[in-house]
Amino acid sequence: MENTFGSKVVLVDHPMVQHKLSILRDKDTSSKQFRELVRELALFEGYEATRDLPLAPVEIETPIAKTLAYQLAGKKLAIVPILRAGLGMVNGIQDLIPTAKIAHVGMYRDEETLEPHTYFEKYPKNLEEAITIVVDPMLATGGSSVAAIDMVKKQGATNVKLVCLVGAPEGVKTVEKAHPDVDIYLASLDDHLNEHGYIVPGLGDAGDRIFGTK
Ligand code: PRP
Ligand code: URA
Repeated sequence: MENTFGSKVVLVDHPMVQHKLSILRDKDTSSKQFRELVRELALFEGYEATRDLPLAPVEIETPIAKTLAYQLAGKKLAIVPILRAGLGMVNGIQDLIPTAKIAHVGMYRDEETLEPHTYFEKYPKNLEEAITIVVDPMLATGGSSVAAIDMVKKQGATNVKLVCLVGAPEGVKTVEKAHPDVDIYLASLDDHLNEHGYIVPGLGDAGDRIFGTK
């Protein structure tokens, strides 16, 4: 759906996605299954986020005849996980595009102020030529995503997409306002944030559930 900022919010509401998301939300889902589901959901969302990749015609010969077919037109792809939880989504998107380069943005959210703090940055070369996909399962206040997008744009990225699993309306608005050119992909737009800045109903602390740290 197109919004007033000109970018779009794409809800990836395929039945497979909704089914997997329900298992992901369940508090009794194990860390192992949680990780597997995050990877699978990232692949489904990555599929939507790469829908507009440019194609170029190529002549090939099948065992039967010569034909004109289409291949990706060489546009580079960079995946930017926001550590830690975003790491859980990298392999799913890499399954789709194995040649994608990976950047890393390390960020944690202060539990009191909810402000993001950056502790690590590492980028591949030539981000300005790439389609840059920032990934994080959770879009809560939007502070972490806005900061990560600021950082990749500072590195030269011009074509940026944000792929999250679960978003809160507050976070979507914040990203749209700060980065009106960035399309946002979500498996679910949830109801609201609670007083601790957690998404309701959400799925809890994604980083802790992926890495078994709680
Ligand atoms: C979580 C999540 C996002 C951020 C979302 O990370 O993975 O990065 O919070 O919140 P925001 O939209 O309000 O900024 P967290 O700080 O818990 O770090 P972790 O991934 O290392 O657990
Ligand atoms: N970070 C999470 O991991 N979960 C939330 O609900 C909000 C921020």
